[in-house]
Amino acid sequence: MTSSSEPDAVVDICTTADIVVARRLTRQLAACLDFGSADQTRLATAVSELTRNVIEYAGHGTCHISDASDLAFNSIQVIVEDNGPGIANVAQAMQDGYSTSGSLGAGLPGTRRLVDSFMIESRPGLTRVTISMSMRKDRP
Ligand SMILES: Nc1ncnc2c1ncn2[C@@H]1O[C@H](COP(=O)(O)OP(=O)(O)OP(=O)(O)O)[C@@H](O)[C@H]1O
Ligand SMILES: [Mg+2]
Repeated sequence: MTSSSEPDAVVDICTTADIVVARRLTRQLAACLDFGSADQTRLATAVSELTRNVIEYAGHGTCHISDASDLAFNSIQVIVEDNGPGIANVAQAMQDGYSTSGSLGAGLPGTRRLVDSFMIESRPGLTRVTISMSMRKDRP
């Protein structure tokens, strides 16, 4: 199976303006890959939540937006990572309503529901969330 693993875009995430850029680039790539507007919005929302967490809990980080398509599927992959303190208990952080900042605690669990694939790893010094969405090329 062939797939491109080169990142198509890497956005440094430091301010809310960077979130806007990451959202826009994600939406643009999704549109290029023929994802419908609902999927474009799902992906952009997921990227907003993950990059907002980077700013809130780590200060800064990066967002890699890639075309991971192969012969059968159009796929977009986004990796959001930071070198902050990490998440002490990932299972707890993935539960609806868990927040250490008095917020809704909806970002991570909501993001998982929005995308086809969601992976999170976190330890002190590295939190990395990898999400992807895929669509068959030969859909009617
Ligand atoms: N990049 C990160 N680094 C360190 N801790 C994080 C990171 N992302 C999330 N967390 C932790 O996981 C918790 C849950 O994150 P989640 O995004 O689900 O909720 P929230 O940010 O608290 O609230 P909301 O996103 O609904 O405004 C956070 O409160 C925080 O403790
Ligand atoms: Mg959040």
